[in-house]
Amino acid sequence: MASASCLSLLVLVAMASAAWAQLSPTFYLASCPSALFIIQTAVQAAVNSEPRMGASLVRLHFHDCFVDGCDGSVLLADTGSFVGEQGAAPNAGSIRGMNVIDSIKAQVEAVCAQTVSCADILAVAARDSVVALGGPSWPVLLGRRDSTTASKTNAENDLPPPTFDLQNLTTSFANKQLTLTDMVALSGAHTIGQSQCRFFRNRIYNEANINTAFATALKANCPQSGGDSSLAPLDTTTANAFDNAYYSNLISQKGLLHSDQALFNGGGADNTVLSFASSAATFSSAFATAMVKMGNIAPKTGTQGQIRLVCSKVNS
Ligand code: HEM
Repeated sequence: MASASCLSLLVLVAMASAAWAQLSPTFYLASCPSALFIIQTAVQAAVNSEPRMGASLVRLHFHDCFVDGCDGSVLLADTGSFVGEQGAAPNAGSIRGMNVIDSIKAQVEAVCAQTVSCADILAVAARDSVVALGGPSWPVLLGRRDSTTASKTNAENDLPPPTFDLQNLTTSFANKQLTLTDMVALSGAHTIGQSQCRFFRNRIYNEANINTAFATALKANCPQSGGDSSLAPLDTTTANAFDNAYYSNLISQKGLLHSDQALFNGGGADNTVLSFASSAATFSSAFATAMVKMGNIAPKTGTQGQIRLVCSKVNS
């Protein structure tokens, strides 16, 4: 990243540190100095064995933060007496990577017992995933604590569905204090990873603002009925590289999801898409800035919540 954008990121982190007084990039420096290295090593190994896992971890952090803040609530599995968020429509049969976080947590627990929260591990893993796939880096503010509850209802209400248009998307992100620019930048995470047919079927069969050859090619693996979970890359050109090709795809009407193409459809986000498509550095810097902001949605700090022993369940 250019030094100017590094500097502005440091300023942003300093401002964010002031706004969320208890979070700090050096939170574990004394209490668990090896935590960041353990997370980074494990994420790199996971991405080496399956590049898509980097995408899944970034999405998991997003799905954590948008539901009652970044508190690890998405990681809590359902039990006979506990209903978590994993069965909510935006997550069911779709979120991945919880096993990777569980394994990292076990490694961190082995060296620093009940010190590093699952919410923080997820925030760092998201950053390390982006870096492992060639994207920008940023200092992750730390010190979040883990929730003791989860909300399936809030997951259904607060996570935007792929059927949203620009107005709905803007409102959904504004509800989390994220701007239009943040929303367009964060959607650039769709430069990596895959989507199931059930989320883009209507777009490829029924929408007009789609490149014809692109739609035709996708239909082979995503029939009008059946094949609901068949996968297609969200970025048709460079699926496993964290770059700015996503935005060029939108300009060519090759956005996979309705909500992707909504960002470049003659509306108020067009200019931001054009600017991110024409400058990888501009996108990288906006993405890093927006990830810091998203990572700081309603953190639990101080005596709120707990440090879970195992990320998938509340301490007994
Ligand atoms: C703007 C609103 C958004 C909508 C409507 C949306 C919707 C979706 C959908 C439907 C999928 C496919 C899931 C599946 O097939 O199982 C997906 C995948 C993904 N999303 Fe989003 N998303 C949005 C924003 C974001 C944001 C803000 C991030 C992260 C910063 C993100 C990161 C990802 C990633 C990396 C994947 C691929 C995951 C994988 O391959 O496992 N998305 N998204």
